[in-house]
Amino acid sequence: MQYEQSASLPEPDELSAEHSARVSQHIRNRIKEAGGRISFAEFMHEALYAPGLGYYSAGSSKLGADGDFVTAPEVSSMFGRVLARQSMEVLGQIEGGEVLEIGAGSGKLAVDMLRAFEDLSALPEVYNILEVSADLEDRQRRRLRKELPHLVERVRWLTGLPQEFDGLIVANEVLDAMPVERFVRRDSGLLQCCVALEAEKFAWAQIEAPDRLVSAVVAIEADTGQTLADGYTSEVSLAAPLWVADLAGCLRHGAVFLFDYGLSQREYYAPDRLEGWLRCHFRHHAHNDPLINAGIQDLTSWVDFSAIAGAAVDSGLEILGFQTQSQFLMGGGLEIEMRDFTEMPLQQQIELSGQIKTLTLPGEMGENFKCLALGRGEIDSPSAFQFADRTQTL
Ligand SMILES: C[S@@+](CC[C@H](N)C(=O)[O-])C[C@H]1O[C@@H](n2cnc3c(N)ncnc32)[C@H](O)[C@@H]1O
Repeated sequence: MQYEQSASLPEPDELSAEHSARVSQHIRNRIKEAGGRISFAEFMHEALYAPGLGYYSAGSSKLGADGDFVTAPEVSSMFGRVLARQSMEVLGQIEGGEVLEIGAGSGKLAVDMLRAFEDLSALPEVYNILEVSADLEDRQRRRLRKELPHLVERVRWLTGLPQEFDGLIVANEVLDAMPVERFVRRDSGLLQCCVALEAEKFAWAQIEAPDRLVSAVVAIEADTGQTLADGYTSEVSLAAPLWVADLAGCLRHGAVFLFDYGLSQREYYAPDRLEGWLRCHFRHHAHNDPLINAGIQDLTSWVDFSAIAGAAVDSGLEILGFQTQSQFLMGGGLEIEMRDFTEMPLQQQIELSGQIKTLTLPGEMGENFKCLALGRGEIDSPSAFQFADRTQTL
């Protein structure tokens, strides 16, 4: 996601403020029903996905210039075009392989990949999309019908993971949108951060952590060989490894490409990272208060890729490679996609250069964003990973 750091946030407009009041009321009811507090993971789930209300479930713009953040496919079609090249290598190894995109946002990546597949004479029979947000699914359908009317018949929207899948699964910035638990390590034990009410306003509350959370943090301390310091605050996703296990359960033959901003576990729980990785995005401003603007701002946490890789391996998948987004694009065919660059009109050259910088420069999306590729059943590692591979850092 691209955004500006900001101390002062813009005020929500009247409609957004009204919507946020409805979402807040819904969450207040949940807190009261639950006896006075809910875990932060539940708060995040309700704020993002409460049917018809949550940030992803309701109708705000979310992605793009008039939304709250911009993702790699929204920055440039080059992301989808290179991804299509790498996907083609996987699909070439699987008879009748299909594509499954999870969390397709505005539908931009689907459009770019299908166009590129068509240019490469490598169209898959079916391009499946699994999307939890009814609002975004509606947007995807409209976009694909408008921009690719001759290919839309190949696109299928699913209501759940298929029982068995052969082909390529791709998810860009989906893991970071999964609810996380927030915890505080104390010398006396582990505390779970919950959300309670103070004078009807959301407020943090800490309770003794439940066993599942304690086990997750104990495992992190064992794997990283450190005891987190008294007061150390961070997040852990209990949902993401289960989701990866579900993906693994349905993948019979093929590969999974997971793109997100994230780190190895050792970096994620570095001793000096005292406040964790949770971030909020509102109108292209990033901030650290998830308890405001309920339902009208994005809540997101960086991804612990070691945990994701571990869950994948435990579920029988193989790691095909792990690298930065920049390495994936550079090694995956960006220069082939750019071969007509010098023949383009100057304005187009300027725009494209800007997009490529955003996608690849270390201070932009190039280093923080990673690609983890997983596979099952005799799949060669895609060529992008011959350029560079950081699997040993996981
Ligand atoms: C940050 S947006 C990224 C959208 C898009 N992939 C892109 O890169 O522009 C997260 C997307 O994941 C979807 N999502 C979150 N959890 C999901 C899940 N468990 N299954 C399917 N989609 C999910 C959201 O509704 C949204 O479309």
